[in-house]
Amino acid sequence: MNTETDKNPFIINNYQGKEYFCDREHNVESLISNIQNELNTTLISIRRIGKTGLIKQLFTIIEEKLNYPCLFIDLFASQNLNDFTNQLANEIARKFPEKHSAGKRFLKSIKQLRPLIQFDALTGEPSISFDAIKQNEIPKTIQQLLSFLEQQNTPIIIAFDEFQQINEYPEKNTEAILRTIIQDVKNLRFIFSGSKKHILTEIFGNSKRPFYASTNIEYLDFIPADKYKAFIKHHFEKNNRKINDEDIDFILTWTNRHTYFVQMVCNRVYATGKRKISHSDILMQCHKILKDQEVFFYQYRNLLSPQQWNVLKAISKEEKLYQYTGKDFLAKYQFTNASVVKRCVDALLEKEMIYQENDEQGTFIRTYDVFLQKWMLNK
Ligand SMILES: Nc1ncnc2c1ncn2[C@@H]1O[C@H](COP(=O)(O)OP(=O)(O)OP(=O)(O)O)[C@@H](O)[C@H]1O
Ligand SMILES: [Mg+2]
Repeated sequence: MNTETDKNPFIINNYQGKEYFCDREHNVESLISNIQNELNTTLISIRRIGKTGLIKQLFTIIEEKLNYPCLFIDLFASQNLNDFTNQLANEIARKFPEKHSAGKRFLKSIKQLRPLIQFDALTGEPSISFDAIKQNEIPKTIQQLLSFLEQQNTPIIIAFDEFQQINEYPEKNTEAILRTIIQDVKNLRFIFSGSKKHILTEIFGNSKRPFYASTNIEYLDFIPADKYKAFIKHHFEKNNRKINDEDIDFILTWTNRHTYFVQMVCNRVYATGKRKISHSDILMQCHKILKDQEVFFYQYRNLLSPQQWNVLKAISKEEKLYQYTGKDFLAKYQFTNASVVKRCVDALLEKEMIYQENDEQGTFIRTYDVFLQKWMLNK
């Protein structure tokens, strides 16, 4: 069993430092190069590959080596420009606390914008809200917030995670508003990150949209097998655990090398506390994960129509499916109508149950959740 000193090195939630972070050196380098060349970055990948982790790793390195302040804003739950503004203001307040002179200046500088500022009774931290201001005052407010950062006379990095969320805002001119403001600031470098590739490539790659060609696009791929293997081996061995190379290969293959799923299996195997890990220990943990997650899989089923569920099952059995309306696939799973399958695939993509990618063989679709995919194999 784990003791406090025997920390499980395979992290399955928030970033916990460089020690537990595998590779991504090239990505960090190119992000830093963008920053130093005054370019903004759009960071794109499928879900659970490690975008958020990469940003946190980058921030750790920047704060250590360059000492630039770094701001992280997760837009996942934001629903409109007001939420966006509140989150930006609160992150600035967190980064520039009131006990320092810059923090005092910040609170003073936003007073004229008439925010509602409440102080947490326990921590004393301020919580800032611009909910009461008029809609047409929002652009000016965002501008003021950024202009405070401009005045700090240092490069400052601002990451907007889940940036595609702005597409859901009711304010249809959000992109134009943000682009105009961002264009005017000189020492702020932005990272726009997200997993909805089609939305992000539309925002940043469509010549008719305000953000067109304004950033360098960085695609985040799977961690290379040799790097991940060395990382896993290092952490088992460092803690006096023995695991065979072939068994590490098995974990990487079974999880498609998809970061979250690799971490999860390694975490569980490590948590057994065994000093010598056998193949059957690993199989047992994989089996246990699928069993534990079964309740979620049944919930997914409730969210889908029976047809969608059957198509998802067929896709899962194929692993990578290149031609989902081809007659081989239809015949193999006894689907009679290609257009029904097409509609199901569109719905599954929309619900993020599957994703679409390209490799040397062409475009394919694949089940997002590796554990669900493995569980489906026996259904
Ligand atoms: N390079 C890495 N080494 C080790 N663990 C990692 C690495 N990158 C990410 N992880 C872990 O994998 C999990 C998924 O990573 P993360 O949340 O960063 O992915 P994401 O691409 O932001 O996903 P989403 O699109 O769902 O937000 C997290 O538990 C994270 O700690
Ligand atoms: Mg993320």
